[in-house]
Amino acid sequence: MAKAKTAYVCTDCGAEHSKWQGQCIECGAWNTMSEFVVQPAVKSAGAARSSGYAGAAAGAPQVTPLTSVALTAESRTLTGLGELDRVLGGGLVDGSVVLIGGDPGIGKSTLLLQMLGKLGEQLSSVYVTGEESLAQVAARAQRLDLPLGPLHALAETCIERILEQAVSSRPRVLVIDSIQTIWTELLTAAPGSVSQVRESAAKLTRFAKETGTSVFLVGHVTKEGGIAGPRVLEHMVDAVLYFEGESGSRFRVLRAFKNRFGAVNELGVFAMSEKGLREVPNPSAIFLSAHAGPTSGSAVMVTREGTRPLLVEVQALVDQSSLGNPRRVTLGLEQNRLAMLLAVLHRHGGVAAYDQDVFVNVVGGIRVQETAADLPVLLAVLSSLRDRPLPEKTVTFGEVGLSGEIRPVPNGEERLKEAAHHGFQRAIVPKANASKKGRVGEMEVVGVERLSQAIDASR
Ligand code: TYD
Ligand code: MG
Repeated sequence: MAKAKTAYVCTDCGAEHSKWQGQCIECGAWNTMSEFVVQPAVKSAGAARSSGYAGAAAGAPQVTPLTSVALTAESRTLTGLGELDRVLGGGLVDGSVVLIGGDPGIGKSTLLLQMLGKLGEQLSSVYVTGEESLAQVAARAQRLDLPLGPLHALAETCIERILEQAVSSRPRVLVIDSIQTIWTELLTAAPGSVSQVRESAAKLTRFAKETGTSVFLVGHVTKEGGIAGPRVLEHMVDAVLYFEGESGSRFRVLRAFKNRFGAVNELGVFAMSEKGLREVPNPSAIFLSAHAGPTSGSAVMVTREGTRPLLVEVQALVDQSSLGNPRRVTLGLEQNRLAMLLAVLHRHGGVAAYDQDVFVNVVGGIRVQETAADLPVLLAVLSSLRDRPLPEKTVTFGEVGLSGEIRPVPNGEERLKEAAHHGFQRAIVPKANASKKGRVGEMEVVGVERLSQAIDASR
């Protein structure tokens, strides 16, 4: 066999270089070079074709009008874990590659093992463990009360040998726990390095597409919360899911970050118990903290990440700053958005916070990326600044524009219904989202068009 040629790739921008160098000349990043193997091009049909256009090889790809493409409904299998199926977009797709990231100990291995247990006789599977021994996996499966019969595990980290085993045992579902422990014989770099992860994932992706096997990859996350390894990993796979939760809380949220087969930002909610993960099919109220009475700096909002409304609490703490450059810290929200909202609050609400540290947090480790959080954030900030709670049983949502207008958000009616269903008595929402009657069930709905109106309504 010819010696494999190696090259270097910048982990930031993906540029390839033939030699190692300290700085990537493409993007200017330092110390981002990582070795990988250049696969020799296969000299076959392609070469023959390029030597003459006459008579393209039979079976070669052709330009095709999309109307004549036969649509085959992708075949899906329900995993038996409803919340996981929801996040996958309605079940597991044959030949799909799903990457699951999350902090250590959050429950990635538990979730996947439970999934395989549920899939049981329906689909054959192999759980490849690179981190735990077979005995540990078996003990966990037993503790989770899973039927041991259909469960097969393999303790191996070399990708070539894993694929050899997979080809001979032909599982329909293959779980790799974790991709950072997997290495290929082609490379000398250590397992977990960018090149090893990239090469192993590429092999697994090719295997999935060629055989129709569904592959799950467990991925470690970096300190910043992204998946450790090359960014291209996220491009290679069909879906990227994050498993998140607050330390100390037993609730876990599975979130789709990318999904070629379903909606992104779909949330699945689980609770960790001594018998593993339990599904929480009606999660709406679990993310509200249980206050004895009204507290300042807290606003309840209805978010609609994915396909169902969810009640979450936004908390703000505004405190006199001792720094020349006061802090703007957000957890679960976008930081730049907070800076913008504070500017709007100053300009159109007449409330200054330039000498204050502002911290904003979404309770329960939930991440809210939609703009409907604008109004709740501002009202929570204002409430903390004035040390005055919002009226009891009040819920709010709405986008805030730069000119101080309150803009409508999608699915207003559904959000209002969810809030009324959970016993809220007052809603402060964009005028266009408010119903004409001014009520939803027992709940009074106040429609506002300007920030000043919203501030008045929240007194
Ligand atoms: P694990 O799935 O090993 O996490 P990851 O693979 O993401 O690192 O989860 C381990 C944690 O879950 C561990 O802290 C113990 C807890 N746990 C339970 O509380 N109950 C259970 O039944 C199991 C299996 C784990
Ligand atoms: Mg694990």
